[in-house]
Amino acid sequence: MTREVKSVAVLGGGTMGLGIAAASADAGANVLLLDVTMEAAEASLDRMKNIRPPAFEDPTSADRISLGSFETDLGKIADYDWICEAIVEDVTVKRDLFAKLEPLRRDGSVVSTNTSGIPLKDIADGMPERLRKDIVVTHFFNPVKIMRLMELIPSADTTEDVTDALADFCGNKLGKGVVYAKDTVNFIGNRIGCFFMLSGLHKAGAALQNGMTMEQVDALLSKPVGLPPTGLYGLIDLIGLDIMDLVGKNLNVNLPDVDVGRAFTCFPKVEQAMLERGQLGRKAKGGFYRLNIAEDGTKTKEIFDLTNETWRSADRISLEDVHGNTETVFFADDERGKLVWDIMGGTLLYAADLVPEIADDIVNIDRAMRWGFGWAKGPFELLDQLSPAKVIAKLETAGEPVPAMLKVLKETGADTFYRNDGTEYLTRQGTWEAVPAE
Ligand SMILES: NC(=O)c1ccc[n+]([C@@H]2O[C@H](COP(=O)([O-])OP(=O)(O)OC[C@H]3O[C@@H](n4cnc5c(N)ncnc54)[C@H](O)[C@@H]3O)[C@@H](O)[C@H]2O)c1
Repeated sequence: MTREVKSVAVLGGGTMGLGIAAASADAGANVLLLDVTMEAAEASLDRMKNIRPPAFEDPTSADRISLGSFETDLGKIADYDWICEAIVEDVTVKRDLFAKLEPLRRDGSVVSTNTSGIPLKDIADGMPERLRKDIVVTHFFNPVKIMRLMELIPSADTTEDVTDALADFCGNKLGKGVVYAKDTVNFIGNRIGCFFMLSGLHKAGAALQNGMTMEQVDALLSKPVGLPPTGLYGLIDLIGLDIMDLVGKNLNVNLPDVDVGRAFTCFPKVEQAMLERGQLGRKAKGGFYRLNIAEDGTKTKEIFDLTNETWRSADRISLEDVHGNTETVFFADDERGKLVWDIMGGTLLYAADLVPEIADDIVNIDRAMRWGFGWAKGPFELLDQLSPAKVIAKLETAGEPVPAMLKVLKETGADTFYRNDGTEYLTRQGTWEAVPAE
């Protein structure tokens, strides 16, 4: 490693910028925080101190942060090792800022963009060669202080010392779980996570027509499959239908033509109507769920029943053993098993077809889903728990295609994707490699 990050210039002090600035200052780095105006930068520092939980681990870290505006202080980035852009998700606005900053930064500095899903090539194409070699995507998750995942995405031109310097700083100083992704739409976590959510809305919608309830859907797609308690509808409420809509549009433009996710880039009709009337989720005080507080203060959790488009009180669900257990629920021969196989199983199979498109190996994919989406196990770890042979047999019996990594496993004669107590993993070439330390 020939470059080292000791100081950070964060451009944009919004949700992500303030998190990165505070974490970097906590790690002992001197930080420059620039925003559209000095007032915006001051407001950002104020939010770092006052949001709950605070963005800082140590409140005195704020002393290491200097503030400024793009208009008057951009030249100051010459004193910083890492120029971290975290402004609005707009390729033209981002490119304009990079064109302005490139002549101002010093040789040897490294640059990153904190986009959620714009391909790096769209940001860097046509830029000066020095910038194309020095830039990566650093995809942090929100809130930065809490979420472990940071996806690091080099372009075809990025040099290795740049990736190494940022992996070292973000991994060792910020304590992030660094995952290496390819420069493809939505990278790893959001590519698989959004497939789960968008395909889930369509497939669960069909199950609701057959008599299943939304509470049952969420109960099945949470603990029994190793996902957080939000399940499907609760998770989308947390993210917001407006964000999911933008994600869908981005996928529609950038997914490969043959990708199975293409079938799910738009919302079903009822969810589209919810989006249009602003029933977006928690931030709009109601999406699929809402908390109804009566005049006497009684709180009732309500659900927006998609089958008749009305609010009703949400039921508590208890699942029978066969549906509460990971090994059995995927293979249960009933509507509930079918739903889990269709949505969660479908997501595992989708992931198993994305090596090497989105990542070079299964380890990066598993870590992205555990660290970024709170899955108890990544897709390949979960397939190991289910027994890959059983999954392949189910696909073959149904005459369905076997995804690439399951084919590799079958051809290699392996039983699982990990062996020797999880210390080795199966590569796409069918060889075994040591799992890098977390
Ligand atoms: N919020 C998330 O959950 C999340 C997660 C991962 C990545 N991201 C990405 O991080 C980036 C920042 O997102 P955010 O959530 O912090 O956004 P935000 O809306 O909270 O902040 C946006 C920042 O951009 C600045 N800005 C607005 N218009 C501008 C312009 N025309 N020129 C320059 N700066 C401008 C704002 O002043 C602010 O500092 C985006 O690319 C986003 O997609 C967001």
